[in-house]
Amino acid sequence: MANFALFLVFWALFLLSFTTFGSTKVVEHTFYVQSVIERRLCKDQAITVVNGSFPGPTIYAEDGDNLIIHVINESPYNMTIHWHGIKQQFSCWADGTGYITQCPIRPGNKFTHRFNISGQEGTLWWHAHTGFHRATVHGAIIIYPRPGRSYPFPKPDEEVPIILGEWWNENITELEKQLDVTGWGPNSSDAFLINGYPGDLYSCSSNDGRRFLKVPQDDQDSGLQLSSTPEHLKPGTFKLRVTYGKTYLLRIINSAINPNYFLAIADHKMIVVAADASYTKPYSIDILVLAPGQSYDVLLVANQPPQQYYMATQIHRESTAEIPNSLPASALIIYENAGNSPPKFPYLPDMYDTQTSFNFFNGLSGLDTGPFWDPLPLEVDEHMFITVSLGLIDCPTPEKCPKNNGMLMVTSLNNESFILPTDKLSFLEAFYHNVDGVYEDDFPSKPPLEFDYTSSNNGDKECWSKQSTKVKRIKFNSTVEIVFQGTSCGKGENHPLHLHGYNFYVLGQGLGNYNATKHASLLNFQNPVVRNTVDVVADGWVVIRFRADNPGVWFLHCHIEGHVPIGMATAFIVEDGPTLSTTLPPPPLDLPEC
Ligand code: C2O
Ligand code: CU
Repeated sequence: MANFALFLVFWALFLLSFTTFGSTKVVEHTFYVQSVIERRLCKDQAITVVNGSFPGPTIYAEDGDNLIIHVINESPYNMTIHWHGIKQQFSCWADGTGYITQCPIRPGNKFTHRFNISGQEGTLWWHAHTGFHRATVHGAIIIYPRPGRSYPFPKPDEEVPIILGEWWNENITELEKQLDVTGWGPNSSDAFLINGYPGDLYSCSSNDGRRFLKVPQDDQDSGLQLSSTPEHLKPGTFKLRVTYGKTYLLRIINSAINPNYFLAIADHKMIVVAADASYTKPYSIDILVLAPGQSYDVLLVANQPPQQYYMATQIHRESTAEIPNSLPASALIIYENAGNSPPKFPYLPDMYDTQTSFNFFNGLSGLDTGPFWDPLPLEVDEHMFITVSLGLIDCPTPEKCPKNNGMLMVTSLNNESFILPTDKLSFLEAFYHNVDGVYEDDFPSKPPLEFDYTSSNNGDKECWSKQSTKVKRIKFNSTVEIVFQGTSCGKGENHPLHLHGYNFYVLGQGLGNYNATKHASLLNFQNPVVRNTVDVVADGWVVIRFRADNPGVWFLHCHIEGHVPIGMATAFIVEDGPTLSTTLPPPPLDLPEC
């Protein structure tokens, strides 16, 4: 009862906030999650989407807006929708993370997310947060400056969301089941996509049209001839029509399940102005690098001869695993009055070019002044050192691990391989109502063993992991610094780590083992880039820092979807602050039950 009274007080305050501040407006949407048939690569495939569109609808909002989004699950699957990168200040209940902040919405049920966007501008996205559904259940979130404010760069003439995705000629839920059996995810999709389309390099079957030849590495102006695919066999291509002299703000999102992407546009530079909806120092580049989960705001100036140009992606792999499909996805940039000459294809790095990826991330920096600049907290309360790793556990049932001698390949953080209980309460409910037995709150602040993390000699002793539900509990407002250390257990792979509920400062990155003394000079305390997803490159390290000023349960996980169900996750439980306004409100009454 006390709870209900508190609930009413919070709601009264929430509703009041709609009326008291003149500029706060309400953005309301209804998301119907449904199955539809889409045709790609000359094949019909049933997929799950929102409001009939793939990618799903774009949410447009201004900083300061209140969002109300009704999610109605008309699909046959359990579903949650997560607002990736939205800080959810004091609204953890709306975060939409399956079994962490809520139980899934069962088929035929619904849930209304209510949250405020505050202190954020730029491009984020929303996606399903149950299993692999985010492959097709996703869309952009575009946050404009609040009235009276402008971008910290000249106003572009037009803005265009660009969503990088993937396509499977298979039911994604079936693929997920394979993951359970083999302990490993689907390696590659059948096509890579730009705004839902694979582009001209793909043809419907291997027998028709031209076969793609490797993109030349050394000739930036090699226009590829692609005209021999008969027109009716060409799968769709996203086309962006531009006018000479205009500036376009591309809002680019990597929604893919597995790959990092390189992205380039023939003959055009790009200027990065924001990463994960945090402004950056303008950064002029030829190749953009996006790990799964990351987004960028990029300026494109149409200043080249009026022709057609390809925008294309190449996947980036850090391990040399077999890739069945590595055809670039492509889109066309078509100038007004473009002649008939064949479109030029951009130079794209080699699939295994980790140096280009590392250099790109190293070149990013944040602002050091302005409305959205929060000075870096200099005192650290919680130091954590987290190994980000593949690992082995005892095989739970022999038929699961035919190849590995009774051992199962997993992923882990500090040798804890996270398992998400799906038969109880969500973690947030368990925390809020003080229910034991859902999680353990003793996630270790360092690995069980110190070792030469990136040496190729690591074996069972170093890489052995155990399954647990361990999370880390932290006091309100403490400053947390984390060193993420990649390891060579199994094989070194990159891992884009994403933290819910927060942006963090990326202080630095490097290759090999992190050494506080040796690497202090590599850290940027001046203008570190601020983001929500950081790519820990294979056999490398990253240092991040954030202030835990948002109570709730916040998932921390690799954004390579195949790595999550096998363990690369944990959560931060951030306690309430001392006052009512620093306390997490009670759960909404329609919160789905398990
Ligand atoms: Cu973009 Cu936990 O997700
Ligand atoms: Cu990973």
